[in-house]
Amino acid sequence: MISWLHHLVIYVRKYVNKLIHIPLPALVTGSNHLEDVPELLQRHGKSCVFIATDKGLMQLGLIKPLLHLLEEKGIKFYVFDGITPDPTIEVIEQGRCYFTENQCDAIVALGGGSVIDCAKGVAASVTKNKSIASLAGLFRVRKRLPYFIAIPTTAGTGSETTLVAVVTNSQQQQKFTVIDPCLVPAVALLDPALTIGLPRQITAETGIDALTHAIESYISKHATTLTRQYGLNAMQRIFSALPSAYDDGSNVAARNEMLLASYYAGAAFTRASIGYVHAMAHQLGAIYHIPHGRANAVLLPHILEFSKNKVIDKYAELAVLLGFIDKEESQPVQAQAFLGRVKTLLEQINIPQYFEQLQPRDIPNIATRAIKEAYCEYPVPKMMSEAQCQAILHKVSKV
Ligand SMILES: [Fe+2]
Repeated sequence: MISWLHHLVIYVRKYVNKLIHIPLPALVTGSNHLEDVPELLQRHGKSCVFIATDKGLMQLGLIKPLLHLLEEKGIKFYVFDGITPDPTIEVIEQGRCYFTENQCDAIVALGGGSVIDCAKGVAASVTKNKSIASLAGLFRVRKRLPYFIAIPTTAGTGSETTLVAVVTNSQQQQKFTVIDPCLVPAVALLDPALTIGLPRQITAETGIDALTHAIESYISKHATTLTRQYGLNAMQRIFSALPSAYDDGSNVAARNEMLLASYYAGAAFTRASIGYVHAMAHQLGAIYHIPHGRANAVLLPHILEFSKNKVIDKYAELAVLLGFIDKEESQPVQAQAFLGRVKTLLEQINIPQYFEQLQPRDIPNIATRAIKEAYCEYPVPKMMSEAQCQAILHKVSKV
């Protein structure tokens, strides 16, 4: 790979990005705000809603209060609960047919990142009347989506905030992204009550997904003062609230903090992008179906260590801003304090150090794909070679 081309593309895109308006969704936050949904829909003249969710949430009954509220207000709805983790082209196509057959005019996505990404995919393919596969890449939607309310039931993916939908091509065992400012939901409704029942492991892994968004965007070459403020805001909340949310899932205040952290980390990376943690995690998700948050969480300390010599000032700055260390300490000591606190947090919430599934024979292919994904796409502070990527993957393989 030619590194000067990477630098040129990243440099040009940094300035092109500044010309593109990326909206943020209207933020509705706090307990009992599901009641706002019918009013929001009516205010926008919507009368027939496509509800995106999954079977697990249906069984848990998490969706019931929303359906009752819609019934009470006489708003028609159609529930599409066929969404599986890592939504595929086929599932999105089923959703598009269901939306169109029922002549829906708005979308409410209630679920984790996969549900919200799938709903974005349905909205985009309905709007463009095309398969989601043909909308892969940058700025292929360019048309206003149906009115879209995102209600996350996990705290981490940031999908409720961002301009991205990650879609799986199951035949090729690959993921692709649809990226367009039109994909940003109109409303992000963050109700901590919906995340109370989240199992500990998912709380931990999705929380570290948000932390990864915040850190990768903070050290990105596309970071701005504003995106760093968003990222710092998210990190402050995650370091203080994630252990509490993990230890006591019914801690509403901690759950609320984690939802806000996910939102602000999403606001940071929707503009400043992500890096190698995600590039590698996407391959592990596509090949082994390792949950996205877990893949990020295992890889994060290794990639932070890899990038350290290029962003030691940023790690040091974060350590001071997050109150981990005195500002009089030397930069290397401060940077080490930041890395140490990340590792401590991972240990506190029992993130494993290895992937059981990762087979050494697959590592060359995974590394090739990860480096290809990041090349010219992610404004990483330090370029990684395939050999370096393979070395990291060997470190996290249990086999
Ligand atoms: Fe992520």
